[in-house]
Amino acid sequence: MRDYDFVVIGSGIAGLSFALKVAKDGPVAVITKRKGADTNTAWAQGGIACVTSDEDSFELHVRDTLEAGAGLCDEAVVRTIVTEGPERIHELADLGLHFDEREVSGHRELDLGKEGGHSKRRVLHVQDVTGKEIEETLLRELGRQSQVELLENHMAVDLITAAKLGFATEDRCLGVYVLDEKTGDVETIRSDRIVLATGGCGKVYLYTTNPDIATGDGVAMAWRAGAEIANMEFIQFHPTCLFHPQAKSFLISEAVRGEGGILRNNRGEDFMKHYDARGSLAPRDIVARAIDAEIKRSGAKCVFLDITHKSPEFVRERFPHIYQTCLRFGIDMSKQAIPVVPAAHYQCGGIKTDVNGATTLPGLYAIGEVACTGLHGANRLASNSLLEGLVVAHRASASGVRTRSASKQKIPLPEWESGNVQDVDELVVIYHNWDEIRRLMWDYVGIVRTDKRLQRASARLRNLQREIREFYWNFKVSVDLLELRNLATVAALIVDSALSRQESRGLHYTIDYPEMKDRQFKHETVLSRG
Ligand code: SIN
Repeated sequence: MRDYDFVVIGSGIAGLSFALKVAKDGPVAVITKRKGADTNTAWAQGGIACVTSDEDSFELHVRDTLEAGAGLCDEAVVRTIVTEGPERIHELADLGLHFDEREVSGHRELDLGKEGGHSKRRVLHVQDVTGKEIEETLLRELGRQSQVELLENHMAVDLITAAKLGFATEDRCLGVYVLDEKTGDVETIRSDRIVLATGGCGKVYLYTTNPDIATGDGVAMAWRAGAEIANMEFIQFHPTCLFHPQAKSFLISEAVRGEGGILRNNRGEDFMKHYDARGSLAPRDIVARAIDAEIKRSGAKCVFLDITHKSPEFVRERFPHIYQTCLRFGIDMSKQAIPVVPAAHYQCGGIKTDVNGATTLPGLYAIGEVACTGLHGANRLASNSLLEGLVVAHRASASGVRTRSASKQKIPLPEWESGNVQDVDELVVIYHNWDEIRRLMWDYVGIVRTDKRLQRASARLRNLQREIREFYWNFKVSVDLLELRNLATVAALIVDSALSRQESRGLHYTIDYPEMKDRQFKHETVLSRG
């Protein structure tokens, strides 16, 4: 049995930032399903929203965040994250990350991008590969820390808690079972401070901008362990995912619209003008719904993002990654509009935490997309998430997470037991169920919802969960099976939360209750296994 002072599950901006901060305090394990860089962070194109210019202010950033959040943000949390941002950005720069700059009247200043819902230019970026640069910077630094062990190709199976072991004392997290994907063995890891930083759950939907690892593992594990989960109905659909039969999950950054890109329908019309005075750069929920309506109305398969009025040099220099990727699919974005559709992008709810990452289960922390701190409310303001990961990782590392539990050494942890038979049917059943979940979530729990569709999804998911449970207990666990089990759990949490919110707010839009009902629903949707 391995034993660490801190176990971090996930290797994106939140997990790595936390691991680096506590590395001087004791042994740390960073557990990650694939390679270290296989994270949502590495795919982030837009950048980090942070107040750095004299023309901007904390007050404006707070106001924009609250406005996007449609009445559900926790204002104190928003203020903390916004105001502590600049210090965390300096730390990233100290690690060697260089954000893009530009020449203004003979001096250099940060080149700030603009995205939907921001009243000022405030998005720090490195061309259109900000997340990749951040990931590489943090991984490089991690490699210099002798106290940190990066366990790649390891997948957390389940948290070990006092309650699960039958102890009547206060429940708490004691460790985690982890599958070593190379050997197929499940190891027991003891730690009384476990940080979930597993990112989001985009793969629960048929179309997503997320990488394959985004299967909602953290939320599903925390739910099974009894932690509270909040606001899962608020799934953000990014308006512009590349539409091409061979392109899988490729995002066209909102920064393209920030630099003047215009959305056009199949007749070439700038249709967003008819939906919102802010046009193509209206907040994401409005743009995604407008595209959905245009596509349904016209029967077209996609809409188009047009930035051909900018010079080809500008397009190639500002968006080299998007330009080259589109070119590989035969689209020269400096000469022709890019075909795009909305796709699942970000989970605004998650494991309920305070602004220091503490969940409702002692010993368990959650940081980044997996968590619901109260920053995003009913709709995340673009590029606020990398900022949240940095700030909350720092706060967690400086808070109660440093305190050891007295019970840690006393409770014996049982080894993992599972069936060791491999079912010949396993793969086909797993893939079938995986496809079924993703399609039913897309069709019944998408951008526009109704009670009838949600109920249909709920009934199907219960059946699938029963089947998966049976499978899970009888056969040897594999990554595919574990991911399927987590996807089904998270899908059911999204549907249950959506059914309980009988109003339309932010990202949750239902035809049955099209109005916002402040008196009944201006609160988080909290689910707990009890
Ligand atoms: C984008 O570049 O459009 C994504 C930024 C974000 O989701 O915050």
